[in-house]
Amino acid sequence: MITPTAQSQVPVITIDGPTASGKGTVAGRVAKALGWHMLDSGALYRLTALATQQQGVDSDNPQSVADVAENLDVVFSDGTILLAGQDVTDLIRHESVGSLASKIATYGPVRQSLLARQRAFRCLPGLVADGRDMGTIVFPDAPLKIFLVADALSRAKRRCKQLSQKGISANLTSLLEDMLERDKRDRDRALAPLVAAPGAVTIDSSALTIDETVNKVLGLWSGKGDPSGPM
Ligand code: C5P
Repeated sequence: MITPTAQSQVPVITIDGPTASGKGTVAGRVAKALGWHMLDSGALYRLTALATQQQGVDSDNPQSVADVAENLDVVFSDGTILLAGQDVTDLIRHESVGSLASKIATYGPVRQSLLARQRAFRCLPGLVADGRDMGTIVFPDAPLKIFLVADALSRAKRRCKQLSQKGISANLTSLLEDMLERDKRDRDRALAPLVAAPGAVTIDSSALTIDETVNKVLGLWSGKGDPSGPM
Protein backbone atom coordinates (compact mmCIF):
# COMPACT_ATOMS: atom_id res chain seq x y z
CA MET A 1 0.00 0.00 0.00
CA ILE A 2 1.48 3.33 -1.03
CA THR A 3 1.19 6.14 1.54
CA PRO A 4 0.24 9.71 0.50
CA THR A 5 3.80 10.88 1.29
CA ALA A 6 5.29 8.16 -0.90
CA GLN A 7 2.80 9.00 -3.65
CA SER A 8 4.05 12.58 -3.83
CA GLN A 9 7.52 11.14 -4.48
CA VAL A 10 6.37 9.19 -7.54
CA PRO A 11 7.66 11.11 -10.60
CA VAL A 12 5.10 12.56 -12.98
CA ILE A 13 5.49 14.09 -16.42
CA THR A 14 2.47 16.17 -17.36
CA ILE A 15 1.56 16.84 -21.00
CA ASP A 16 -1.17 19.42 -21.46
CA GLY A 17 -2.37 21.09 -24.61
CA PRO A 18 -5.29 21.71 -26.95
CA THR A 19 -7.36 19.07 -28.72
CA ALA A 20 -5.41 16.83 -31.12
CA SER A 21 -2.03 18.40 -30.40
CA GLY A 22 -0.69 14.84 -30.22
CA LYS A 23 -0.69 14.69 -26.41
CA GLY A 24 -2.18 11.21 -26.16
CA THR A 25 0.16 9.60 -28.68
CA VAL A 26 3.23 11.33 -27.26
CA ALA A 27 2.23 10.56 -23.65
CA GLY A 28 1.73 6.88 -24.55
CA ARG A 29 5.12 6.65 -26.26
CA VAL A 30 6.95 8.44 -23.44
CA ALA A 31 5.27 6.21 -20.83
CA LYS A 32 6.27 3.12 -22.81
CA ALA A 33 9.89 4.26 -23.17
CA LEU A 34 10.18 4.93 -19.44
CA GLY A 35 8.13 1.86 -18.40
CA TRP A 36 5.68 4.14 -16.57
CA HIS A 37 1.91 4.26 -16.17
CA MET A 38 -0.21 6.56 -18.27
CA LEU A 39 -3.29 8.65 -17.51
CA ASP A 40 -5.46 9.85 -20.40
CA SER A 41 -7.53 12.29 -18.36
CA GLY A 42 -9.59 13.36 -21.38
CA ALA A 43 -10.93 9.79 -21.53
CA LEU A 44 -12.43 10.27 -18.05
CA TYR A 45 -14.31 13.38 -19.22
CA ARG A 46 -15.39 11.55 -22.37
CA LEU A 47 -16.54 8.53 -20.32
CA THR A 48 -18.53 10.81 -18.03
CA ALA A 49 -20.14 12.42 -21.09
CA LEU A 50 -20.98 9.04 -22.61
CA ALA A 51 -22.35 7.64 -19.35
CA THR A 52 -24.47 10.79 -18.93
CA GLN A 53 -25.96 10.21 -22.39
CA GLN A 54 -26.45 6.49 -21.88
CA GLN A 55 -28.13 6.93 -18.49
CA GLY A 56 -30.41 9.69 -19.80
CA VAL A 57 -29.07 12.13 -17.19
CA ASP A 58 -29.71 15.85 -17.70
CA SER A 59 -26.38 17.17 -19.01
CA ASP A 60 -27.34 20.72 -18.01
CA ASN A 61 -27.35 19.76 -14.33
CA PRO A 62 -23.77 19.89 -12.95
CA GLN A 63 -24.55 17.93 -9.78
CA SER A 64 -26.32 15.10 -11.65
CA VAL A 65 -23.37 14.82 -14.06
CA ALA A 66 -20.95 14.88 -11.11
CA ASP A 67 -22.84 11.94 -9.59
CA VAL A 68 -22.32 10.06 -12.87
CA ALA A 69 -18.57 10.91 -12.74
CA GLU A 70 -18.30 9.80 -9.11
CA ASN A 71 -19.85 6.42 -9.90
CA LEU A 72 -18.17 5.68 -13.24
CA ASP A 73 -17.71 1.92 -13.56
CA VAL A 74 -14.61 1.98 -15.75
CA VAL A 75 -11.76 -0.42 -16.43
CA PHE A 76 -8.64 0.56 -18.42
CA SER A 77 -6.88 -2.55 -19.65
CA ASP A 78 -4.24 -2.91 -22.39
CA GLY A 79 -5.58 -0.06 -24.50
CA THR A 80 -9.20 -1.14 -24.07
CA ILE A 81 -11.70 0.92 -22.08
CA LEU A 82 -14.72 -0.78 -20.54
CA LEU A 83 -17.65 1.25 -19.26
CA ALA A 84 -20.06 -0.85 -17.18
CA GLY A 85 -18.59 -3.87 -18.95
CA GLN A 86 -19.11 -2.46 -22.48
CA ASP A 87 -16.09 -1.86 -24.74
CA VAL A 88 -16.33 1.88 -25.47
CA THR A 89 -12.73 2.42 -26.64
CA ASP A 90 -13.80 3.76 -30.04
CA LEU A 91 -17.21 5.11 -29.04
CA ILE A 92 -15.75 7.74 -26.71
CA ARG A 93 -13.63 9.13 -29.58
CA HIS A 94 -16.68 10.32 -31.52
CA GLU A 95 -16.82 14.10 -31.89
CA SER A 96 -20.29 14.27 -30.32
CA VAL A 97 -18.89 12.67 -27.15
CA GLY A 98 -15.88 15.04 -27.25
CA SER A 99 -18.17 18.07 -27.51
CA LEU A 100 -20.31 16.95 -24.59
CA ALA A 101 -17.12 16.18 -22.62
CA SER A 102 -15.92 19.75 -23.18
CA LYS A 103 -19.29 21.08 -21.97
CA ILE A 104 -19.45 19.02 -18.77
CA ALA A 105 -15.73 19.72 -18.12
CA THR A 106 -16.76 23.31 -17.29
CA TYR A 107 -18.72 22.06 -14.23
CA GLY A 108 -16.85 22.40 -10.92
CA PRO A 109 -18.55 19.41 -9.22
CA VAL A 110 -17.59 17.18 -12.18
CA ARG A 111 -13.93 18.25 -12.04
CA GLN A 112 -13.95 17.68 -8.28
CA SER A 113 -15.46 14.19 -8.69
CA LEU A 114 -12.71 13.18 -11.11
CA LEU A 115 -9.80 14.59 -9.11
CA ALA A 116 -9.12 11.69 -6.72
CA ARG A 117 -9.59 9.16 -9.53
CA GLN A 118 -6.90 10.91 -11.58
CA ARG A 119 -4.46 11.21 -8.68
CA ALA A 120 -4.84 7.49 -7.95
CA PHE A 121 -2.96 6.79 -11.19
CA ARG A 122 0.22 8.14 -9.58
CA CYS A 123 2.00 4.86 -8.84
CA LEU A 124 5.59 3.71 -9.05
CA PRO A 125 7.70 3.71 -11.11
CA GLY A 126 6.12 6.90 -12.53
CA LEU A 127 3.23 8.44 -14.43
CA VAL A 128 2.82 10.32 -17.69
CA ALA A 129 -0.46 12.25 -17.53
CA ASP A 130 -2.07 14.06 -20.45
CA GLY A 131 -4.94 16.52 -20.49
CA ARG A 132 -5.63 20.22 -19.94
CA ASP A 133 -4.94 20.78 -16.23
CA MET A 134 -2.45 18.03 -15.37
CA GLY A 135 0.34 20.51 -14.62
CA THR A 136 -1.82 23.27 -13.12
CA ILE A 137 -4.32 21.44 -10.88
CA VAL A 138 -3.99 17.66 -10.75
CA PHE A 139 -0.21 17.26 -10.40
CA PRO A 140 1.11 20.79 -9.71
CA ASP A 141 4.27 19.31 -8.15
CA ALA A 142 5.23 17.33 -11.29
CA PRO A 143 8.98 17.68 -11.93
CA LEU A 144 8.49 18.00 -15.71
CA LYS A 145 5.56 19.80 -17.32
CA ILE A 146 5.06 20.02 -21.07
CA PHE A 147 2.63 22.26 -22.94
CA LEU A 148 2.18 20.69 -26.35
CA VAL A 149 0.76 22.89 -29.08
CA ALA A 150 0.32 22.70 -32.86
CA ASP A 151 -1.44 24.96 -35.36
CA ALA A 152 -5.16 24.32 -35.77
CA LEU A 153 -5.05 23.01 -39.34
CA SER A 154 -2.32 20.45 -38.55
CA ARG A 155 -4.37 19.32 -35.57
CA ALA A 156 -7.59 19.02 -37.56
CA LYS A 157 -5.79 16.98 -40.25
CA ARG A 158 -4.33 14.66 -37.62
CA ARG A 159 -7.70 14.19 -35.94
CA CYS A 160 -9.33 13.49 -39.34
CA LYS A 161 -6.72 10.81 -40.06
CA GLN A 162 -7.09 9.24 -36.60
CA LEU A 163 -10.86 9.06 -36.93
CA SER A 164 -10.81 7.58 -40.43
CA GLN A 165 -8.29 4.95 -39.24
CA LYS A 166 -10.89 3.97 -36.63
CA GLY A 167 -13.56 3.77 -39.35
CA ILE A 168 -15.31 6.93 -38.08
CA SER A 169 -16.22 9.31 -40.92
CA ALA A 170 -15.06 12.89 -40.50
CA ASN A 171 -15.18 16.15 -42.45
CA LEU A 172 -12.10 18.38 -42.20
CA THR A 173 -14.00 21.70 -42.23
CA SER A 174 -16.49 20.73 -39.55
CA LEU A 175 -13.70 19.11 -37.49
CA LEU A 176 -11.72 22.34 -37.65
CA GLU A 177 -14.73 24.42 -36.60
CA ASP A 178 -15.59 22.03 -33.78
CA MET A 179 -11.97 21.99 -32.62
CA LEU A 180 -11.68 25.79 -32.53
CA GLU A 181 -14.94 26.03 -30.59
CA ARG A 182 -13.75 23.38 -28.12
CA ASP A 183 -10.34 25.07 -27.69
CA LYS A 184 -12.05 28.38 -27.00
CA ARG A 185 -14.32 26.80 -24.39
CA ASP A 186 -11.36 25.03 -22.74
CA ARG A 187 -9.28 28.24 -22.69
CA ASP A 188 -12.02 30.62 -21.56
CA ARG A 189 -13.61 28.55 -18.81
CA ALA A 190 -13.31 29.83 -15.25
CA LEU A 191 -12.23 26.49 -13.75
CA ALA A 192 -8.96 24.78 -14.70
CA PRO A 193 -8.67 26.58 -18.06
CA LEU A 194 -6.30 25.32 -20.71
CA VAL A 195 -3.11 27.25 -19.98
CA ALA A 196 0.58 26.40 -19.73
CA ALA A 197 1.44 25.59 -16.11
CA PRO A 198 4.07 27.76 -14.44
CA GLY A 199 7.44 26.29 -15.39
CA ALA A 200 6.03 24.25 -18.29
CA VAL A 201 8.14 23.78 -21.41
CA THR A 202 6.15 24.61 -24.55
CA ILE A 203 6.74 22.34 -27.55
CA ASP A 204 5.20 23.21 -30.93
CA SER A 205 4.70 19.91 -32.74
CA SER A 206 3.27 21.39 -35.99
CA ALA A 207 6.44 20.62 -37.92
CA LEU A 208 7.71 17.73 -35.78
CA THR A 209 7.18 14.01 -36.24
CA ILE A 210 5.89 11.97 -33.31
CA ASP A 211 9.38 10.50 -32.82
CA GLU A 212 10.94 13.96 -32.71
CA THR A 213 8.38 15.16 -30.15
CA VAL A 214 8.80 12.03 -28.01
CA ASN A 215 12.59 12.41 -28.11
CA LYS A 216 12.34 16.05 -27.04
CA VAL A 217 10.28 15.06 -23.98
CA LEU A 218 12.62 12.17 -23.12
CA GLY A 219 15.61 14.49 -23.55
CA LEU A 220 14.07 17.03 -21.19
CA TRP A 221 13.40 14.27 -18.65
CA SER A 222 16.91 12.84 -18.77
CA GLY A 223 18.22 16.42 -18.52
CA LYS A 224 16.44 16.56 -15.16
CA GLY A 225 18.74 13.80 -13.94
CA ASP A 226 16.25 10.93 -14.16
CA PRO A 227 18.04 8.10 -12.36
CA SER A 228 16.51 5.32 -14.45
CA GLY A 229 16.95 7.19 -17.74
CA PRO A 230 14.92 6.56 -20.95
CA MET A 231 15.35 3.10 -22.50
O1 C5P B 1 -8.29 15.34 -24.53
P1 C5P B 1 -9.67 15.04 -25.02
O2 C5P B 1 -10.03 15.73 -26.31
O3 C5P B 1 -9.96 13.59 -25.05
O4 C5P B 1 -10.63 15.64 -23.90
C1 C5P B 1 -12.03 15.80 -24.09
C2 C5P B 1 -12.48 17.07 -23.35
O5 C5P B 1 -12.35 16.87 -21.94
C3 C5P B 1 -11.65 18.31 -23.66
O6 C5P B 1 -12.18 19.06 -24.75
C4 C5P B 1 -11.71 19.11 -22.38
O7 C5P B 1 -12.81 19.98 -22.39
C5 C5P B 1 -11.95 18.07 -21.30
N1 C5P B 1 -10.75 17.83 -20.50
C6 C5P B 1 -10.53 18.66 -19.42
N2 C5P B 1 -9.48 18.44 -18.59
C7 C5P B 1 -8.63 17.42 -18.84
C8 C5P B 1 -8.81 16.59 -19.95
C9 C5P B 1 -9.88 16.83 -20.78
O8 C5P B 1 -11.28 19.60 -19.18
N3 C5P B 1 -7.62 17.22 -18.00
